[in-house]
Amino acid sequence: MAGQEQQHQRRRVVVLFSLPFQGHLNPMLKLASLLHTRGLGVTVLHTDFNAPDPARHPAGLAFVPIHETLPGEATSPDSNILTKLLALNAACDAPFRHALASLLRARHRDDDDVACAVVDGQCFAAMRAAGELGVPVLALRTDSAAAFRKMLAIPRLRDAGYIPIKGNKKEKLDEPMPEFEPLRVRDLIRVEGSDTDEICSFVASVADAVRATVSGIVLNTFEAVEASELSKLQSELSLPAFAVGPLHLLSSSSSQAPAEAEQSVHEPDRGCLPWLDDGHPPRSVIYVSLGSLACVDRVVFDEMAWGLARSGVPFLWVVRPGSITGVGEDDGEAPPPLPEGFEEETRGRGRVVKWAPQREVLAHASIGAFWTHCGWNSTLESVCEGVPMLVQPCFGDQMVTARYVTHEWGVGMEVGEVIERGRVAEAVAKMMVGEDGALMKERARHLKMEASAATGSAMDGLVRHILSL
Ligand code: UDX
Repeated sequence: MAGQEQQHQRRRVVVLFSLPFQGHLNPMLKLASLLHTRGLGVTVLHTDFNAPDPARHPAGLAFVPIHETLPGEATSPDSNILTKLLALNAACDAPFRHALASLLRARHRDDDDVACAVVDGQCFAAMRAAGELGVPVLALRTDSAAAFRKMLAIPRLRDAGYIPIKGNKKEKLDEPMPEFEPLRVRDLIRVEGSDTDEICSFVASVADAVRATVSGIVLNTFEAVEASELSKLQSELSLPAFAVGPLHLLSSSSSQAPAEAEQSVHEPDRGCLPWLDDGHPPRSVIYVSLGSLACVDRVVFDEMAWGLARSGVPFLWVVRPGSITGVGEDDGEAPPPLPEGFEEETRGRGRVVKWAPQREVLAHASIGAFWTHCGWNSTLESVCEGVPMLVQPCFGDQMVTARYVTHEWGVGMEVGEVIERGRVAEAVAKMMVGEDGALMKERARHLKMEASAATGSAMDGLVRHILSL
């Protein structure tokens, strides 16, 4: 009897592990807080690189470093995303396994019970390791359901001749993709500098780990935007999918207010908020940011700058250190220099920062549009604030998301296939003052209402699932 009582008091603990990218850490840490708020014990295993600051999260969350050794290519601005992902998987494999095994031993002694591990859906090494240690695994995807579905289909699409895209004739690029409307051939996931075999091999590693170890997929998305993709994904994987997003809208604060303070891997320049307050009419400023990883070359960067200058529209532009490709252009420490004469030309009308408090910026009344790379977090944040988008997807899932923004939800338009100052100026003006822009603003307002209506019920379903494992 006493033994049984003890059994009942055992605390169910969830172990979470994210790859150390801003766009992955944000949803994973938010999920950690939400699970904690719902009464589960939470331990966050994390890399030393971009380590979360425990002081900015609820006191009840435990943080344990895995002490990885990262090779240069895992973090270099010159590595493409696939190189980074492969290097991180390799570097985190043994340290994650070791840290999780130690945790299992310690938890056992403390009479806690590890219910499951929620692992970054791109970290096949950690999924496999947790599975081999006998821990039930849930994969957290930080992209959309559509992008994940498309990623899993890549080897099949290669066999069907759709990729490599470069081998396709120009006219074929605009053909619709059977089974994947509204996507076209050109919207297929791609990574500059990686060949199709490398991409297929990475996808196969993720797909194998998911099929062999995972007992559910957690997605930072919501039914109103991806109902059909979610149901297709569930049936194709024969796994439950929990659409718990938009995660950043769900409150996890209760008595732990610091949980709501976003943790950034870069220090945000909060000076842009008073600048936005200062004399800018509602919806008059365009916010420009290509997220935490995307890079452009110097030619594209200059065309973006001069396009903004020519548009005559006030702008807030995030120019991140390390955001220009090419040796000697950008050392990853200081932001790349702006083109000569640009600051004089745009004085009083533009503000350039290294990193912005993005969610507060998007919520600011003076913001009229977001020129974005369509990272999934940025897209959701824009949707949730009712801000229409100018899209400039750069790699990976961003092409898929951009197509949904422009053609499925109708809340955005393309900057242009080629980034050239005249076209940029035209697209910015069209979005900010044209009729098309007005229509998109109206649709974005509606989508915002749908996002606000997404409740925590999928989170409750996820917690029930965890407790059943
Ligand atoms: C990439 C992928 O494209 C994305 O879909 C994936 O799942 C994660 O990795 P990333 O470049 O990091 O994304 O962009 P995004 O997903 O948009 O995440 C960037 C995060 O950084 C957002 O939460 C955004 O609010 C934040 N951010 C960005 C800032 O806080 N300040 C900035 O100046 C720029």
